[in-house]
Amino acid sequence: MDGRDLVRSVKAVGSGGAAQGLRRVRAAWRRRRADAAGLPRRGAERARVPGTVQEALPGPGGGVVRFARSELRITVTVNGAVFWGWDGAGPEPSYALAGSGPEPDPRAVLEPDKDGGWRVVAKRVTVVVSRHGAVEVRTPGGVTLRRDLPPRWWEPADGGGARWMQRSEVAPDARFFGLGGRATGPRLADGTYRLWNTDPGRPFAPGDDPLYLTMPVQMVVADASTHLVFHDTSWDGTVTLREGEEGAGSGHDRAGSCELRMDGGPLRCWVMVGTPARVLRVWASLTGSPAVPPAWALGHHHARWGFGSAQEVRRIVAGYRERGLPLDAVHLDIDHYEGHRVFTVDRDRFPELPVLAEELRRDGIRLVSIVDPAVKVEPGNAVYDSGCAEDAFVRDASGRVVEGVVWPGEAVYPDFTHARVRQWWGGHYAERLAQGFAGFWHDMNEPVSFTAFGENTLPRSALHALEGRGGDHREAHNVYALCMAQAAYEGLRALAPRERPFLFSRSGWAGMQRYGGTWSGDVATGWSGLRASLSLVMGLGLCGVPYSGPDVGGFDGSPSPELYLRWFQLASYLPLFRTHASLRAGRREPWEFGDDVLEHARVALTQRRRLLPYFVTLAHLARRTGAPYVRPLWWGTPEDRALRDCGDAFLLGDGLLVAPVLDPGVDRRTVRLPRGRWYDTVTEKAYQGPGRVVVDAPLSRIPVLARAGAVLPVRGEGGGLELEAWAPAPGRSGGGLVVRDAGDGWGEPEVERYVSRWKGRRVVVRRDGDEGRSEPVHPVRVRGLGSG
Ligand code: NOJ
Repeated sequence: MDGRDLVRSVKAVGSGGAAQGLRRVRAAWRRRRADAAGLPRRGAERARVPGTVQEALPGPGGGVVRFARSELRITVTVNGAVFWGWDGAGPEPSYALAGSGPEPDPRAVLEPDKDGGWRVVAKRVTVVVSRHGAVEVRTPGGVTLRRDLPPRWWEPADGGGARWMQRSEVAPDARFFGLGGRATGPRLADGTYRLWNTDPGRPFAPGDDPLYLTMPVQMVVADASTHLVFHDTSWDGTVTLREGEEGAGSGHDRAGSCELRMDGGPLRCWVMVGTPARVLRVWASLTGSPAVPPAWALGHHHARWGFGSAQEVRRIVAGYRERGLPLDAVHLDIDHYEGHRVFTVDRDRFPELPVLAEELRRDGIRLVSIVDPAVKVEPGNAVYDSGCAEDAFVRDASGRVVEGVVWPGEAVYPDFTHARVRQWWGGHYAERLAQGFAGFWHDMNEPVSFTAFGENTLPRSALHALEGRGGDHREAHNVYALCMAQAAYEGLRALAPRERPFLFSRSGWAGMQRYGGTWSGDVATGWSGLRASLSLVMGLGLCGVPYSGPDVGGFDGSPSPELYLRWFQLASYLPLFRTHASLRAGRREPWEFGDDVLEHARVALTQRRRLLPYFVTLAHLARRTGAPYVRPLWWGTPEDRALRDCGDAFLLGDGLLVAPVLDPGVDRRTVRLPRGRWYDTVTEKAYQGPGRVVVDAPLSRIPVLARAGAVLPVRGEGGGLELEAWAPAPGRSGGGLVVRDAGDGWGEPEVERYVSRWKGRRVVVRRDGDEGRSEPVHPVRVRGLGSG
């Protein structure tokens, strides 16, 4: 550290005070020294490619192809996914997979291909391996979806793990999506994206990358088919994407390309081919079904860093009640802790928290607690003491516990990659449950340590158990939050076995949907932040994480009434609908922005409550099928190229299309419709897709269109379930699913299937059951009849 670093660090501390500044400097210094001492120096390296093919050994679902300097294992599994791994890599061990992965497909066989190559032919996909180790994924009709060129490794001359690079080509018309939560998207523009979960340290906006939640999962959408590719390695790396181009008439197409460079870890990947719905179904079967949140978590949440006291919580809740605004959950941030210590309560400012929780619960409002992973270094603090006794904290190569600095000051970090530590940590949720909390919000779990320079996380040399294999933070960093979520989820299942855990986490990795959802982190207040929040939700859904939503109004500063309202309206159609802001930000209650905003926010809240049965249905469908609630417009028609570029509207399930207002001063907007007939849900005017239409978007609402024929479950005025049926297009029929929750526990929900069709001049809705069709037991309201 030189003088400039010191000045920068002290400046960066700002109002935190010199003492805290020095602590940060010391921590950063220690981290840097630890990395220098603990990591092998990268000296001379030798480059390697697979070389030419030598032989092939058929095996279940495929086999092994041996090259001069590597070998490739290929397996097609019963669910149609393809796995391949170089240098002997198999599917396990893996933090992403739920269980041990699917069985090989016995019908898939390895057979010779032309020019000395080999191929595996399966029902849904053909994999062709060239004699130099290029791997091509083709549709059953023989169209190439992806061509991975022979990989290249760089191995340290004096031993140790290799870095590697994999370059792939995709169709010229292909578009890339995914890679976790990205602020610019959902279509990923040409550029380099880093795979390293990162707290940007300030509210983010489009252009800030990487953010809190990255994952090597890409969905690639092209005319020939959609495919999802997952490189199962948690190390630091980059993905460089470049869209291709079709030669207009000249025939000279330029392929799209993707170059993955990883600092280490196995070179292995999974590929799934088919429609978007199918690839996400296979993805969920591989990495786990998305957890279904309890119904209350699909309502409206109000959070704030800095409620400061139980009185303030009561004041806010009363504000909602007195104005007749629905509220389902209140979130307590770190200011309810005693001295920012995890699993504690400041009893002066929050005396008798269980009483407050009970009071709120009687009004149908749940309390959600923030949980940070770092534990204050403080003998006498029960969590710290028990963690020391358990040997729970991350150590460095010299055996010393690694210290960082977070909100409570100097802190240590549980090693969640150890099953024993997960169990110890999960047990602490008993304290939270006893305080009356019903849900959990994991934060700062990239994990963060404040530093004034370098990376604000643990040293790369910090050691982790990695389930007994042993390794360091270079491998454990990206799965740290995933393992923390696992600890909480399993702890809660043991502590409250009758309830579905509710948790969402700022950071995570592939497979995190098994445990819960996420939110988008600290999004900057501004119109570009609003846009970024939609991009994150859509991108995460395409990576298999369907439950997320932004901080309404943005995390910092004060949004204008118009911006606040537009954010509120958008979020009221997203799975997690939560207002939240920083300690120093302006107010975020709906009544703080004037009477008009209050009335329009009331409409959004009421509409959300009315749609609750639809959200519950979508949550259960996500569990059963892996399909996100929020889907890009191309979901059902990925061959519609114009829709692939469209990131300013989305489908909510099969039935609704939501077109938020993302710019100031707008009262009409263009919407690009997928094919079919769509009704404006307020005016009932019908529009015909595919194509662009202009719809009204007054300040009072954002445009929401219903698909002709859709049957949607909604909450009627008296609170009972009703069916809202949108008239099918003339001569056509439609339908919809209703999944009814059996409470907040594990009971199997009831699934009802409805069909709608014209009978003369009437639209009739029938329940489709095992014994044929019957009258629905719920009241039906048919809409869209007068639209011509
Ligand atoms: C950072 C989180 O992103 C934010 O939501 C939270 O309010 C603060 N930490 C304080 O806990």
